[in-house]
Amino acid sequence: MNTILSIDTSCDETSVAITSGLTVLSNVIASQVELHKEYGGVFPTVAKQAHKENIDKTIRLALKRAKLTIDQIDAIAVTQGPGLAPALEIGINKAKQLTQENNKPLIAVNHIEGHVLSPLAQRNSKTKSHKKRPVITAEAGMTLGKILSIIVSGGHTQFVKINKIGDYQILGHTIDDAAGEALDKVGRMLDLGYPAGPILEEFARLGNPKRFDFALPMTGSGDYNLSFSGLKTQARNLLEKLEAKTTLSKQDIYDFSASFQYATFRHICHKLNKILQEENFSQIWLGGGVAANTELRRMIRETISQHYNDQTRKGLNISKAKLMTPYDKKLCGDNAVMIGIVAYFKLQRNEVMADMETLDRKPRWEI
Ligand code: KG4
Ligand code: ZN
Repeated sequence: MNTILSIDTSCDETSVAITSGLTVLSNVIASQVELHKEYGGVFPTVAKQAHKENIDKTIRLALKRAKLTIDQIDAIAVTQGPGLAPALEIGINKAKQLTQENNKPLIAVNHIEGHVLSPLAQRNSKTKSHKKRPVITAEAGMTLGKILSIIVSGGHTQFVKINKIGDYQILGHTIDDAAGEALDKVGRMLDLGYPAGPILEEFARLGNPKRFDFALPMTGSGDYNLSFSGLKTQARNLLEKLEAKTTLSKQDIYDFSASFQYATFRHICHKLNKILQEENFSQIWLGGGVAANTELRRMIRETISQHYNDQTRKGLNISKAKLMTPYDKKLCGDNAVMIGIVAYFKLQRNEVMADMETLDRKPRWEI
């Protein structure tokens, strides 16, 4: 009971994957970015229509790439939430149809749990030669050591303590915008296109992150929560002031991108450091669309190292946390592989949907 066909239609990617245990057999993502560019954001009814048009082809292609037929699939998994209700509906209805027609178990998955477990996905070593990376093996219920997950995406930004697989505790979360949302909005102010996050990363490489100063939010809040909407307002005000004085040069835009990105990630790292002061973790798992950002990864590694060095200097004997990211940047953003990973553990725990008639969307489902 290991081969799972998974569907994720939570937002603007129609994604279908086939996994065997933790191994990825295929991962097909039909992106709607081109469609939503026009609106500068995801338009739910447009997303629904595109999912409807893409879902069957995406399933066929995922099976073809995995060299399997639907009869060889043991279970169907689908994202139940959180996400856009009209978009979720398409994936759920298709999963129900496949389940009924082929008499397979149906597993409903939380999309955020998918991002949390995304670093567990393993490349199919038969299909590609690749650099050796540490593989995390896990079974449902096994003790994994102390793990902190950081999810940074367009819809969520949160710190999640993994007590064990399936048992999570949110230590802190954004109280307004998500980090990716803030990067996208500020990128839009700079006319960088959509989604702006990856373009902002490219521009930031060419700029000076220290040129513009942003005050970090919630530094004295005493909790691990985050807030990005104030940073975004600072960016808007600063930009208006600059534009009133002069037309921005290319270098100004590079510097602005670098400075805003730096502030966004510094805020996350500041709260991460606060968490590490309280509790030691052996591993830190990073997931979500913004986890693809190289600078974010570097700054998190630096935060971990600094904390470790400080503790060692004080004579404390702690182990240095390892940062684990998905093996491919494609697995940071929305994808169905991560849904298959969660479903695999649910199957092991026998958490299969008994009555699929009751399965409905949960657009605001918390992990
Ligand atoms: O996880 P995801 O695909 O969708 C959600 O569940 O939200 O995340 C999408 C977000 C967008 O805000 C996008 O701009 C951001 O991830 N993103 C990036 C990068 N790649 C994607 N942000 C910064 N740097 C990147 N390289
Ligand atoms: Zn997501």
